Amino acid sequence: MASFESIKQVGVIGAGTMGRGIVMNFVNAGYPVVWLDVNAEMLEKGIEDIRNTYKRSVAQQRFDENEANARVERISTTQAYADLADMDLVVEAVYENMDLKKQIFGELDKAVKASAILATNTSYLDIDEIASATQRPAQVLGLHFFSPAHIMKLLEVVRGKATAQDVLDACLAVGKKIGKEAVLAGNCHGFIGNRMLSMYSRQSREVVLEGATPWQVDQALQGFGMAMGPYRMYDVVGVDLGWRSRQLAGQGRGEPIVWLDNKLCEMERFGQKSGHGFYKYEPGSRQAIHDPETDMLAREVAEEAGYTQRDVGDEEIVRRCILALVNEGGRILDEGFAESAEDIDRVYLYGYGFPKERGGPMSYADSLGLDVVLEQIRELEASQGEFWKPAAGLVKRAEAGERFTKS
Ligand SMILES: NC(=O)c1ccc[n+]([C@@H]2O[C@H](COP(=O)([O-])OP(=O)(O)OC[C@H]3O[C@@H](n4cnc5c(N)ncnc54)[C@H](O)[C@@H]3O)[C@@H](O)[C@H]2O)c1
Repeated sequence: MASFESIKQVGVIGAGTMGRGIVMNFVNAGYPVVWLDVNAEMLEKGIEDIRNTYKRSVAQQRFDENEANARVERISTTQAYADLADMDLVVEAVYENMDLKKQIFGELDKAVKASAILATNTSYLDIDEIASATQRPAQVLGLHFFSPAHIMKLLEVVRGKATAQDVLDACLAVGKKIGKEAVLAGNCHGFIGNRMLSMYSRQSREVVLEGATPWQVDQALQGFGMAMGPYRMYDVVGVDLGWRSRQLAGQGRGEPIVWLDNKLCEMERFGQKSGHGFYKYEPGSRQAIHDPETDMLAREVAEEAGYTQRDVGDEEIVRRCILALVNEGGRILDEGFAESAEDIDRVYLYGYGFPKERGGPMSYADSLGLDVVLEQIRELEASQGEFWKPAAGLVKRAEAGERFTKS
């Protein structure tokens, strides 16, 4: 039976962006880590990157050089699955591709001792399908870290249909030990956080087609208190990710909401990493600079898509983006993919930069009054259609004078 105490050694697969942060989480908390990648160069770069991160921490006097060396020494690297045989927990963080993940879980299942827990850091893929590649589906789950993984506090612990309770409990406790806010999530597309984010993103783009500018949208949402507006976030994540996956899937231009992204990518404006995306960046700087050309391109795209532009106020931008989060949060509760509204709030506070003073999207909805929220969502449904169909649990609570959260 898995328990917090039974997890003593951890394997990590994949030495890219996420793997590096995940490894640091475990070695920082004292766990020895065996780190596997098919590409030896990625492992070397990964170790180098970790050393540099620790050097900065030493310079900031967060810990001393001995501690930094001890942390690096807890890591051993390999390309052989046999070296993972004795691990108690393995976290996979390779490319977001189902066939690749299934192949890796099949290999892990053969190579790693029968009692070990196998976790995936997938953002969207079906945990049950990944678990089906093993003979131990009860010991398979999602451990979804957020980028940068050694800094962001949120960890979604994703329950597959076969995941055993002791496995979930052990991982929730390990999550705590490595300093995370661990939240139990169900296995739906995007789990809690990214499923809600896709609705928020859609609204952030719709309002631009209707007449706002990306800069205005960010200003409005940052004014509400979000740590970073959505367009700044797209630049950080990489504007090209969606564009490349649309191309791979043969989806052509996609819906009008992504035409502006397509246009930027065709100009090789991929975001921060290329020095230009929705915003401009000075060489070596992450400071987002407003680019009026982006506003012009946004207007062109909207015209091409047949929209008549109008003035969209900041209040409307905030209302639509935040209520999109609230309504999807309501659906997630209805469908049982989150255990409580408080858990949804924790996801948004610790993973998505939602303003602390507002308590999270569900607490914010409570503070407005669910009757007011429902009325606003119904108005949007009347003017904008199906997207805004109110969540059943929101309607029920609003009509009964109840709240999402307990206090
Ligand atoms: N980047 C993010 O912001 C983010 C956030 C949360 C979750 N995720 C998820 O984390 C996972 C990894 O994302 P990433 O951004 O770190 O990817 P990445 O492209 O930076 O790194 C992927 C790594 O996997 C390695 N790899 C590929 N095939 C392999 C194999 N067969 N065996 C071993 N290693 C192999 C590659 O060499 C590379 O080092 C994905 O599932 C992604 O959806 C990413």
